[in-house]
Amino acid sequence: MNEALPKKLFIKTYGCQMNVYDSDRMADALAPHGYIPTQEIGEADLVLLNTCHIREKASEKVFSELGRLKELQTEKRATGGDMMIGVAGCVAQAEGEEIARRAPMVDMVFGPQAYHRLPDMLAKAEANRHMHPALKRAVVDTDFPEEDKFAHLPAAKKDVTIGRGLTAFLTVQEGCDKFCSFCVVPYTRGAEVSRPVAQVLDEARRLADAGVKEITLLGQNVNAYHGEDASGRSVGLGELAYLLAEIPGLERLRYTTSHPRDMDDALIAAHRDLPFLMPYLHLPVQSGSDRILKAMNRKHTAAEYLTLIERIKTARPDMAMSGDFIVGFPGETDADFEDTLKIIRETGYASAYSFKYSTRPGTPGANLPDQVEEAVKTERLARLQALVNQQTTAFHASCVGRTLPVLIERVGRMPGQVGGRSPYLQAVHLEGSTDLIGAIHEVDIIGTSTNSLVGRLKRAIAA
Ligand code: 5AD
Ligand code: SF4
Repeated sequence: MNEALPKKLFIKTYGCQMNVYDSDRMADALAPHGYIPTQEIGEADLVLLNTCHIREKASEKVFSELGRLKELQTEKRATGGDMMIGVAGCVAQAEGEEIARRAPMVDMVFGPQAYHRLPDMLAKAEANRHMHPALKRAVVDTDFPEEDKFAHLPAAKKDVTIGRGLTAFLTVQEGCDKFCSFCVVPYTRGAEVSRPVAQVLDEARRLADAGVKEITLLGQNVNAYHGEDASGRSVGLGELAYLLAEIPGLERLRYTTSHPRDMDDALIAAHRDLPFLMPYLHLPVQSGSDRILKAMNRKHTAAEYLTLIERIKTARPDMAMSGDFIVGFPGETDADFEDTLKIIRETGYASAYSFKYSTRPGTPGANLPDQVEEAVKTERLARLQALVNQQTTAFHASCVGRTLPVLIERVGRMPGQVGGRSPYLQAVHLEGSTDLIGAIHEVDIIGTSTNSLVGRLKRAIAA
């Protein structure tokens, strides 16, 4: 490696916030080896694709992106330059050897459990470059190691701007043991692992010291968190929230994504007791039909989900709900789908994400009979989304006339405007000077526009 010349790193991130977090950590791990981030793919010495497997046709999309990268790599080589290529994330985990075989210009393929070994892999891949092209093979690392990847990954650095600098993600848990029958996560991210409490608190303190006001705890099944404390005791997400509430400067806490079965009493109590725990909960139910919930291996009924929401709203009456839905799971009848619409009406969502079922090779759902026709899925998805859109619009409208604390994060779209987020994760725009950025201000909500709220500054409540 040439120490004198910094090398340029371009990371393209697909999918969830866990991947955004992982991409930042990969950039941090490569910084001591002379790599600085660039937004210009053309000038990159190393391109990393941090892939996501949860959406349909994920691997085909990666292969077509690799096709484009190959052209860029060839162009650069023709002019005396070069570009190394790495594929990371869940597609890499699922298709490691296949990628190495089908895309020989790729230098490294590695799964989410191997990020702390990235500098080593890079050294091996750099050595491989001098091999004859016929012999060259990507360095593949898709092991699930026993060791703790977080213990080896550099924590978010104090002087690094994470996100916009006021809000940050913090991964506390990875993997999932739930095995919903449609989902690849237990196979690509592996078994549930929680970071120890001290590690999480250290990272949160570092972020707060760097000016972060709002942290979102991340995990594929975040409310299954069970980190060890110094005495070896297991601490759940609820208890962790109380500990995080003590950190000076940290004003807001969120977490995502949760499973209904893991919303325990301690976490619900934390919502009752801790105003800094934001009243917006992403709690996917996927379907409203007990038959389909069973086939999905969700381990709860529709009635249990509704009872749970009642308990959560008793603890925190202004809780806004968000969810995920799958339409057209194998065997889903019109009546099953009507049950899904029913649970949406009964819950009332502030927002929701919805998907047509599509098979993931290797999951139990892939082998089920009675696949639903594409046209039926399309029609059901449109009806479901129309209902959710009505609810989202109604929720925004219900905020007009209220005064909400808004964390002002940035300049707005229009000159003279600033923008931020309400406790319910709604975007809020208001007239105001850039001096407002960086603090929570009381804002009168005076109207709505597409997908956001319009506000007017009331008075500052935090410096
Ligand atoms: N088909 C459709 N949607 C899926 N999801 C996960 N796997 C599939 C699949 N095979 C959706 C679920 C999950 C969200 C992240 O993606 O709704 O909650
Ligand atoms: Fe996948 Fe979430 Fe089910 Fe885990 S709980 S298997 S991540 S859908």
